[in-house]
Amino acid sequence: MDGTSASLSAVSGTTALHAVIYASRFVVVRHPTIDACVAEILRTSKHNNRFNHVTGALLACDGWFLQALEGRRIDVEHTLRRIERDPNHHGIRRITAGPIEERRFSAWQMCASVLSPTDEAIIRTLAGSGKFDPGTLTPEAALRLLKAVARLQSPRA
Ligand SMILES: Cc1cc2nc3c(=O)[nH]c(=O)nc-3n(C[C@H](O)[C@H](O)[C@H](O)COP(=O)(O)O)c2cc1C
Repeated sequence: MDGTSASLSAVSGTTALHAVIYASRFVVVRHPTIDACVAEILRTSKHNNRFNHVTGALLACDGWFLQALEGRRIDVEHTLRRIERDPNHHGIRRITAGPIEERRFSAWQMCASVLSPTDEAIIRTLAGSGKFDPGTLTPEAALRLLKAVARLQSPRA
């Protein structure tokens, strides 16, 4: 393959980066608390996402999950297909999906924060309506929240 066809394949999207941010609701199935659920998600994600070159961040707040996934489109979509079948949550709603220039969470196979009841009360107050509803977040606000999650973590933790 010469240099031209190599760069054409990059432009055509086989290696291009893709990102999805979605929100969903926690469901009590196997785990009594969202904390326990997130601990298991982190264990599984770190293993699978490393293998699939997927990176991202997860926020759990007030019974909601908000997650960013990024990588090659095919890898992100395969991962999402597994996540969508997971009975630990429901009502998955994509907030944004599309190409990105560079990874925003390159240091993390997955990082996560579960907000405490105090944090949740602050977020609900900031949201203005008295409840936190990631389903109504703009893509920019969702990304800002998830970047804040990543800033609070040690890389590769
Ligand atoms: C909110 C949420 C986020 C998840 N994030 C990931 C993830 O980033 N990567 C992953 O491999 N599994 C993730 N999982 C777990 C998957 O849903 C699934 O249980 C896991 O990938 C194992 O799939 P399998 O049993 O089909 O092999 C997540 C689950 C939930 C509920």
